[in-house]
Amino acid sequence: MSATSPYGAVAAATSATQLGPVLEAGGRELARLLARTEERLAEVIGSYGETLAGYAAGTLAAGGKRLRPILVFVCGGAACDPGAEDEPLCDTPAGTALVHAGAAVELLHMATLVHDDVLDRASLRRGRPTVFSSAGRPAATATGDLLFSRAFAELVATNDVDAVRVLSSASSALARGELMQRSDAWRADVSPDRYLERCELKTARLFEAACRLGALLGRPGRSATDALGAFGARIGVAFQIFDDVLDVAGPAERTGKRRGTDLLDGTVTLPLILARRRDRDLRDLDLREVVTDPAQAEAVCDRIALTGALGEARREALHHVAQAKAALSDLELPAGPRGALDLVADGVVERYS
Ligand code: IPE
Ligand code: IPE
Ligand code: MG
Ligand code: MG
Repeated sequence: MSATSPYGAVAAATSATQLGPVLEAGGRELARLLARTEERLAEVIGSYGETLAGYAAGTLAAGGKRLRPILVFVCGGAACDPGAEDEPLCDTPAGTALVHAGAAVELLHMATLVHDDVLDRASLRRGRPTVFSSAGRPAATATGDLLFSRAFAELVATNDVDAVRVLSSASSALARGELMQRSDAWRADVSPDRYLERCELKTARLFEAACRLGALLGRPGRSATDALGAFGARIGVAFQIFDDVLDVAGPAERTGKRRGTDLLDGTVTLPLILARRRDRDLRDLDLREVVTDPAQAEAVCDRIALTGALGEARREALHHVAQAKAALSDLELPAGPRGALDLVADGVVERYS
Protein backbone atom coordinates (compact mmCIF):
# COMPACT_ATOMS: atom_id res chain seq x y z
CA MET A 1 0.00 0.00 0.00
CA SER A 2 1.49 3.34 -0.97
CA ALA A 3 2.09 6.13 1.56
CA THR A 4 -0.37 8.30 -0.34
CA SER A 5 -3.14 5.68 -0.31
CA PRO A 6 -6.40 7.09 1.05
CA TYR A 7 -6.56 4.01 3.28
CA GLY A 8 -3.17 4.70 4.79
CA ALA A 9 -4.62 6.06 8.01
CA VAL A 10 -6.72 2.96 8.57
CA ALA A 11 -3.87 0.69 7.60
CA ALA A 12 -1.70 2.48 10.16
CA ALA A 13 -4.32 1.79 12.82
CA THR A 14 -4.09 -1.91 12.11
CA SER A 15 -0.99 -3.98 12.55
CA ALA A 16 -1.51 -6.33 9.65
CA THR A 17 -0.38 -5.22 6.24
CA GLN A 18 -1.87 -8.50 4.98
CA LEU A 19 -5.28 -6.89 5.31
CA GLY A 20 -4.15 -4.08 3.00
CA PRO A 21 -5.83 -5.62 -0.07
CA VAL A 22 -9.09 -5.96 1.88
CA LEU A 23 -8.95 -2.30 2.83
CA GLU A 24 -8.17 -1.30 -0.74
CA ALA A 25 -11.00 -3.45 -2.09
CA GLY A 26 -13.37 -2.12 0.55
CA GLY A 27 -13.04 1.35 -0.84
CA ARG A 28 -13.72 4.66 0.82
CA GLU A 29 -16.82 3.40 2.58
CA LEU A 30 -14.93 0.73 4.51
CA ALA A 31 -12.18 3.22 5.38
CA ARG A 32 -14.73 5.71 6.72
CA LEU A 33 -16.61 3.11 8.75
CA LEU A 34 -13.35 1.88 10.29
CA ALA A 35 -12.26 5.43 11.07
CA ARG A 36 -15.62 6.06 12.79
CA THR A 37 -15.17 2.83 14.75
CA GLU A 38 -11.73 3.95 15.97
CA GLU A 39 -13.24 7.24 17.10
CA ARG A 40 -16.06 5.42 18.85
CA LEU A 41 -13.69 3.01 20.61
CA ALA A 42 -11.50 5.87 21.81
CA GLU A 43 -14.59 7.75 23.02
CA VAL A 44 -15.98 4.74 24.90
CA ILE A 45 -12.69 3.89 26.58
CA GLY A 46 -11.78 7.53 27.16
CA SER A 47 -15.03 8.03 29.06
CA TYR A 48 -13.40 6.27 32.04
CA GLY A 49 -10.91 8.75 33.38
CA GLU A 50 -9.53 6.40 36.00
CA THR A 51 -6.70 3.90 36.18
CA LEU A 52 -8.80 1.08 34.78
CA ALA A 53 -9.43 3.03 31.61
CA GLY A 54 -5.67 3.42 31.26
CA TYR A 55 -5.22 -0.34 30.96
CA ALA A 56 -8.04 -0.60 28.44
CA ALA A 57 -6.63 2.38 26.53
CA GLY A 58 -3.24 0.63 26.39
CA THR A 59 -4.86 -2.43 24.83
CA LEU A 60 -6.68 -0.21 22.35
CA ALA A 61 -3.62 1.85 21.45
CA ALA A 62 -1.54 -1.29 20.94
CA GLY A 63 -3.49 -1.78 17.71
CA GLY A 64 -4.64 -5.12 16.44
CA LYS A 65 -6.01 -5.93 13.04
CA ARG A 66 -9.60 -4.85 13.69
CA LEU A 67 -10.54 -7.95 11.74
CA ARG A 68 -13.91 -8.43 13.43
CA PRO A 69 -15.16 -4.87 12.69
CA ILE A 70 -13.88 -5.33 9.14
CA LEU A 71 -16.08 -8.43 8.90
CA VAL A 72 -19.09 -6.49 10.19
CA PHE A 73 -18.61 -3.87 7.48
CA VAL A 74 -17.73 -6.15 4.61
CA CYS A 75 -20.74 -8.37 5.40
CA GLY A 76 -22.83 -5.24 5.88
CA GLY A 77 -22.28 -4.65 2.18
CA ALA A 78 -20.39 -1.41 2.55
CA ALA A 79 -17.40 -2.70 0.71
CA CYS A 80 -17.21 -1.93 -3.00
CA ASP A 81 -20.93 -1.95 -3.58
CA PRO A 82 -21.50 0.30 -6.62
CA GLY A 83 -24.89 1.28 -5.15
CA ALA A 84 -23.01 2.81 -2.26
CA GLU A 85 -21.76 5.56 -4.57
CA ASP A 86 -25.18 7.24 -4.56
CA GLU A 87 -26.01 6.79 -0.93
CA PRO A 88 -22.94 6.22 1.23
CA LEU A 89 -23.92 3.71 3.88
CA CYS A 90 -21.63 5.40 6.37
CA ASP A 91 -23.91 8.46 6.55
CA THR A 92 -27.18 6.53 7.00
CA PRO A 93 -28.75 5.21 10.24
CA ALA A 94 -27.73 1.71 9.09
CA GLY A 95 -24.12 2.96 8.89
CA THR A 96 -24.33 4.24 12.46
CA ALA A 97 -25.75 0.90 13.63
CA LEU A 98 -22.90 -0.90 11.87
CA VAL A 99 -20.35 1.34 13.60
CA HIS A 100 -21.91 0.46 16.99
CA ALA A 101 -21.74 -3.22 16.03
CA GLY A 102 -18.12 -2.88 14.84
CA ALA A 103 -17.16 -1.21 18.12
CA ALA A 104 -19.09 -3.86 20.08
CA VAL A 105 -17.32 -6.83 18.50
CA GLU A 106 -13.91 -5.20 18.95
CA LEU A 107 -14.67 -4.37 22.60
CA LEU A 108 -15.79 -7.94 23.23
CA HIS A 109 -12.67 -9.20 21.45
CA MET A 110 -10.41 -6.97 23.54
CA ALA A 111 -12.19 -8.09 26.71
CA THR A 112 -11.56 -11.73 25.85
CA LEU A 113 -7.91 -11.02 25.03
CA VAL A 114 -7.32 -9.29 28.36
CA HIS A 115 -8.98 -12.19 30.21
CA ASP A 116 -7.35 -14.79 27.96
CA ASP A 117 -3.92 -13.46 28.90
CA VAL A 118 -4.79 -14.01 32.56
CA LEU A 119 -5.94 -17.56 31.86
CA ASP A 120 -2.93 -18.31 29.62
CA ARG A 121 -0.50 -16.37 31.84
CA ALA A 122 0.70 -14.67 28.66
CA SER A 123 3.40 -12.00 28.83
CA LEU A 124 3.17 -10.35 25.41
CA ARG A 125 0.23 -9.14 23.34
CA ARG A 126 0.22 -6.89 20.28
CA GLY A 127 3.95 -6.48 20.85
CA ARG A 128 3.49 -5.06 24.35
CA PRO A 129 3.40 -6.46 27.88
CA THR A 130 -0.08 -7.80 28.64
CA VAL A 131 -2.28 -6.06 31.22
CA PHE A 132 -1.86 -9.24 33.27
CA SER A 133 1.94 -9.05 33.27
CA SER A 134 2.20 -5.29 33.77
CA ALA A 135 -0.68 -4.65 36.18
CA GLY A 136 -1.50 -8.07 37.64
CA ARG A 137 -4.47 -10.38 37.72
CA PRO A 138 -6.99 -8.17 39.60
CA ALA A 139 -6.48 -5.20 37.26
CA ALA A 140 -6.65 -7.43 34.18
CA THR A 141 -9.83 -9.13 35.41
CA ALA A 142 -11.53 -5.82 36.09
CA THR A 143 -10.34 -4.31 32.78
CA GLY A 144 -11.77 -7.27 30.87
CA ASP A 145 -15.06 -6.94 32.76
CA LEU A 146 -15.24 -3.26 31.88
CA LEU A 147 -14.65 -3.98 28.21
CA PHE A 148 -17.26 -6.78 28.22
CA SER A 149 -19.95 -4.58 29.69
CA ARG A 150 -19.17 -1.75 27.27
CA ALA A 151 -19.47 -4.13 24.33
CA PHE A 152 -23.09 -4.85 25.19
CA ALA A 153 -23.87 -1.19 25.84
CA GLU A 154 -22.71 -0.45 22.28
CA LEU A 155 -25.14 -2.94 20.81
CA VAL A 156 -28.03 -1.73 22.94
CA ALA A 157 -27.56 1.58 21.10
CA THR A 158 -28.74 -0.15 17.89
CA ASN A 159 -32.14 -0.86 19.49
CA ASP A 160 -32.06 -4.26 17.84
CA VAL A 161 -32.67 -7.04 20.33
CA ASP A 162 -31.57 -9.70 17.83
CA ALA A 163 -28.20 -7.97 17.56
CA VAL A 164 -27.77 -8.15 21.34
CA ARG A 165 -28.79 -11.82 21.22
CA VAL A 166 -26.16 -12.58 18.56
CA LEU A 167 -23.33 -11.08 20.64
CA SER A 168 -24.52 -12.63 23.87
CA SER A 169 -24.52 -16.09 22.30
CA ALA A 170 -20.96 -15.56 21.00
CA SER A 171 -19.87 -14.33 24.40
CA SER A 172 -21.11 -17.42 26.22
CA ALA A 173 -19.58 -19.72 23.57
CA LEU A 174 -16.26 -17.98 24.11
CA ALA A 175 -16.34 -18.57 27.84
CA ARG A 176 -17.27 -22.23 27.29
CA GLY A 177 -14.35 -22.59 24.88
CA GLU A 178 -11.91 -21.15 27.39
CA LEU A 179 -13.27 -23.49 30.09
CA MET A 180 -12.90 -26.44 27.75
CA GLN A 181 -9.31 -25.42 27.08
CA ARG A 182 -8.61 -25.32 30.82
CA SER A 183 -10.11 -28.74 31.38
CA ASP A 184 -8.03 -30.18 28.50
CA ALA A 185 -4.80 -28.62 29.71
CA TRP A 186 -1.69 -30.86 29.43
CA ARG A 187 -3.67 -33.61 27.69
CA ALA A 188 -1.43 -34.32 24.73
CA ASP A 189 -3.81 -37.01 23.45
CA VAL A 190 -6.74 -34.62 22.97
CA SER A 191 -8.64 -35.61 19.81
CA PRO A 192 -8.65 -33.44 16.66
CA ASP A 193 -12.46 -33.24 16.88
CA ARG A 194 -12.36 -31.92 20.40
CA TYR A 195 -9.66 -29.45 19.40
CA LEU A 196 -11.84 -28.22 16.52
CA GLU A 197 -14.83 -27.88 18.83
CA ARG A 198 -12.72 -25.68 21.08
CA CYS A 199 -11.72 -23.50 18.09
CA GLU A 200 -15.36 -23.24 17.13
CA LEU A 201 -16.38 -22.07 20.61
CA LYS A 202 -13.56 -19.80 21.64
CA THR A 203 -12.91 -18.11 18.30
CA ALA A 204 -15.28 -18.97 15.47
CA ARG A 205 -18.48 -17.92 17.21
CA LEU A 206 -17.30 -14.32 17.50
CA PHE A 207 -16.34 -14.29 13.81
CA GLU A 208 -19.78 -15.70 13.07
CA ALA A 209 -21.39 -13.01 15.23
CA ALA A 210 -19.50 -10.24 13.41
CA CYS A 211 -20.79 -11.51 10.06
CA ARG A 212 -24.34 -11.99 11.33
CA LEU A 213 -24.37 -8.47 12.76
CA GLY A 214 -23.21 -7.06 9.43
CA ALA A 215 -26.00 -8.87 7.59
CA LEU A 216 -28.63 -7.98 10.18
CA LEU A 217 -27.86 -4.27 10.44
CA GLY A 218 -26.48 -3.62 6.95
CA ARG A 219 -27.61 -4.11 3.36
CA PRO A 220 -28.01 -7.92 3.07
CA GLY A 221 -30.78 -8.16 5.70
CA ARG A 222 -32.03 -11.00 7.89
CA SER A 223 -32.36 -13.56 5.09
CA ALA A 224 -28.59 -13.54 4.58
CA THR A 225 -27.57 -13.95 8.21
CA ASP A 226 -27.25 -17.76 8.15
CA ALA A 227 -25.03 -17.93 5.05
CA LEU A 228 -22.83 -15.05 6.18
CA GLY A 229 -22.75 -16.48 9.71
CA ALA A 230 -21.58 -19.85 8.32
CA PHE A 231 -18.88 -18.04 6.35
CA GLY A 232 -17.70 -16.31 9.53
CA ALA A 233 -17.69 -19.52 11.58
CA ARG A 234 -15.53 -21.36 9.02
CA ILE A 235 -12.96 -18.58 8.67
CA GLY A 236 -12.94 -18.32 12.47
CA VAL A 237 -11.86 -21.95 12.78
CA ALA A 238 -9.23 -21.43 10.06
CA PHE A 239 -8.04 -18.32 11.88
CA GLN A 240 -7.58 -20.15 15.19
CA ILE A 241 -5.79 -23.10 13.57
CA PHE A 242 -3.40 -20.69 11.91
CA ASP A 243 -2.96 -18.73 15.15
CA ASP A 244 -1.92 -22.02 16.74
CA VAL A 245 0.55 -22.58 13.89
CA LEU A 246 1.98 -19.09 14.49
CA ASP A 247 2.34 -19.85 18.21
CA VAL A 248 4.75 -22.62 17.25
CA ALA A 249 6.37 -20.86 14.30
CA GLY A 250 6.77 -17.34 15.71
CA PRO A 251 8.80 -15.19 15.62
CA ALA A 252 7.60 -12.83 18.34
CA GLU A 253 8.84 -9.79 16.40
CA ARG A 254 6.28 -10.60 13.72
CA THR A 255 3.41 -12.10 15.74
CA GLY A 256 3.60 -9.72 18.71
CA LYS A 257 3.14 -12.77 20.97
CA ARG A 258 5.69 -14.98 22.66
CA ARG A 259 6.49 -18.19 20.79
CA GLY A 260 5.49 -21.35 22.65
CA THR A 261 2.94 -19.62 24.90
CA ASP A 262 0.41 -22.39 24.26
CA LEU A 263 2.78 -25.20 25.23
CA LEU A 264 4.02 -23.38 28.30
CA ASP A 265 0.48 -23.20 29.47
CA GLY A 266 -0.37 -26.81 28.64
CA THR A 267 -2.62 -25.86 25.71
CA VAL A 268 -2.37 -28.66 23.16
CA THR A 269 -3.16 -27.50 19.63
CA LEU A 270 -3.31 -29.04 16.16
CA PRO A 271 0.43 -28.73 15.35
CA LEU A 272 1.31 -30.90 18.37
CA ILE A 273 -1.62 -33.26 17.81
CA LEU A 274 -0.36 -33.91 14.26
CA ALA A 275 3.34 -33.92 15.18
CA ARG A 276 2.75 -36.66 17.77
CA ARG A 277 1.62 -38.92 14.94
CA ARG A 278 4.89 -38.35 13.12
CA ASP A 279 7.42 -38.33 15.94
CA ARG A 280 7.52 -41.08 18.52
CA ASP A 281 9.58 -39.04 20.99
CA LEU A 282 6.99 -36.29 20.92
CA ARG A 283 4.29 -38.89 21.46
CA ASP A 284 6.02 -40.17 24.58
CA LEU A 285 6.76 -36.72 25.97
CA ASP A 286 5.20 -35.82 29.31
CA LEU A 287 4.47 -32.15 28.60
CA ARG A 288 3.95 -31.07 32.18
CA GLU A 289 7.25 -32.62 33.10
CA VAL A 290 9.29 -31.27 30.19
CA VAL A 291 7.84 -27.86 29.37
CA THR A 292 8.53 -25.86 32.47
CA ASP A 293 10.18 -22.73 31.07
CA PRO A 294 10.06 -20.66 27.85
CA ALA A 295 13.30 -22.14 26.48
CA GLN A 296 11.94 -25.68 26.80
CA ALA A 297 8.69 -24.62 25.16
CA GLU A 298 10.66 -23.21 22.22
CA ALA A 299 12.69 -26.41 21.96
CA VAL A 300 9.47 -28.44 21.68
CA CYS A 301 8.21 -25.93 19.08
CA ASP A 302 11.35 -26.60 17.02
CA ARG A 303 10.77 -30.31 17.26
CA ILE A 304 7.13 -29.94 16.18
CA ALA A 305 8.21 -27.83 13.20
CA LEU A 306 10.71 -30.48 12.11
CA THR A 307 7.95 -33.07 11.66
CA GLY A 308 6.17 -31.05 8.95
CA ALA A 309 3.07 -30.76 11.14
CA LEU A 310 2.87 -26.99 10.62
CA GLY A 311 2.25 -27.44 6.90
CA GLU A 312 -0.36 -30.11 7.59
CA ALA A 313 -2.13 -27.86 10.11
CA ARG A 314 -2.13 -25.00 7.61
CA ARG A 315 -3.70 -27.30 5.02
CA GLU A 316 -6.47 -28.07 7.52
CA ALA A 317 -6.97 -24.32 7.93
CA LEU A 318 -7.16 -23.93 4.13
CA HIS A 319 -9.86 -26.60 4.06
CA HIS A 320 -11.98 -24.42 6.37
CA VAL A 321 -11.29 -21.38 4.19
CA ALA A 322 -12.64 -23.34 1.19
CA GLN A 323 -15.74 -24.31 3.21
CA ALA A 324 -16.23 -20.65 4.12
CA LYS A 325 -16.27 -19.63 0.47
CA ALA A 326 -18.63 -22.50 -0.36
CA ALA A 327 -21.06 -21.28 2.32
CA LEU A 328 -21.59 -18.15 0.22
CA SER A 329 -22.27 -19.92 -3.06
CA ASP A 330 -26.07 -19.61 -2.91
CA LEU A 331 -26.03 -16.01 -1.73
CA GLU A 332 -26.64 -13.24 -4.21
CA LEU A 333 -23.89 -10.75 -3.53
CA PRO A 334 -22.54 -7.93 -5.69
CA ALA A 335 -19.10 -8.77 -7.09
CA GLY A 336 -17.43 -6.16 -4.89
CA PRO A 337 -18.46 -7.45 -1.46
CA ARG A 338 -17.97 -11.05 -2.59
CA GLY A 339 -14.41 -10.23 -3.67
CA ALA A 340 -13.73 -8.50 -0.34
CA LEU A 341 -15.03 -11.55 1.57
CA ASP A 342 -12.76 -13.83 -0.48
CA LEU A 343 -9.80 -11.60 0.35
CA VAL A 344 -10.60 -11.73 4.07
CA ALA A 345 -10.95 -15.52 3.89
CA ASP A 346 -7.56 -15.90 2.19
CA GLY A 347 -5.99 -13.39 4.56
CA VAL A 348 -6.73 -15.39 7.72
CA VAL A 349 -4.11 -17.96 6.69
CA GLU A 350 -1.63 -15.55 5.10
CA ARG A 351 -0.45 -13.42 7.96
CA TYR A 352 2.01 -13.11 10.78
CA SER A 353 -0.13 -11.27 13.30
C1 IPE B 1 -6.21 -13.09 18.64
O1 IPE B 1 -7.00 -12.46 17.69
C2 IPE B 1 -7.05 -14.09 19.38
C3 IPE B 1 -7.42 -15.25 18.59
C4 IPE B 1 -8.65 -15.53 18.34
C5 IPE B 1 -6.41 -16.15 18.13
P1 IPE B 1 -6.38 -11.44 16.66
O2 IPE B 1 -5.16 -12.04 16.03
O3 IPE B 1 -7.46 -10.99 15.73
O4 IPE B 1 -5.90 -10.26 17.58
P2 IPE B 1 -5.63 -8.74 17.26
O5 IPE B 1 -6.91 -8.01 17.52
O6 IPE B 1 -5.20 -8.58 15.82
O7 IPE B 1 -4.56 -8.34 18.22
C1 IPE C 1 -7.81 -17.45 21.39
O1 IPE C 1 -6.86 -18.36 21.71
C2 IPE C 1 -8.21 -16.64 22.56
C3 IPE C 1 -9.52 -16.06 22.54
C4 IPE C 1 -10.49 -16.46 21.81
C5 IPE C 1 -9.71 -15.00 23.49
P1 IPE C 1 -5.35 -18.03 22.00
O2 IPE C 1 -5.06 -18.11 23.44
O3 IPE C 1 -4.54 -18.87 21.09
O4 IPE C 1 -5.18 -16.53 21.54
P2 IPE C 1 -3.83 -15.72 21.66
O5 IPE C 1 -2.79 -16.52 20.90
O6 IPE C 1 -3.54 -15.61 23.10
O7 IPE C 1 -4.11 -14.42 20.98
MG1 MG D 1 -3.94 -16.86 24.64
MG1 MG E 1 -2.68 -18.25 20.24
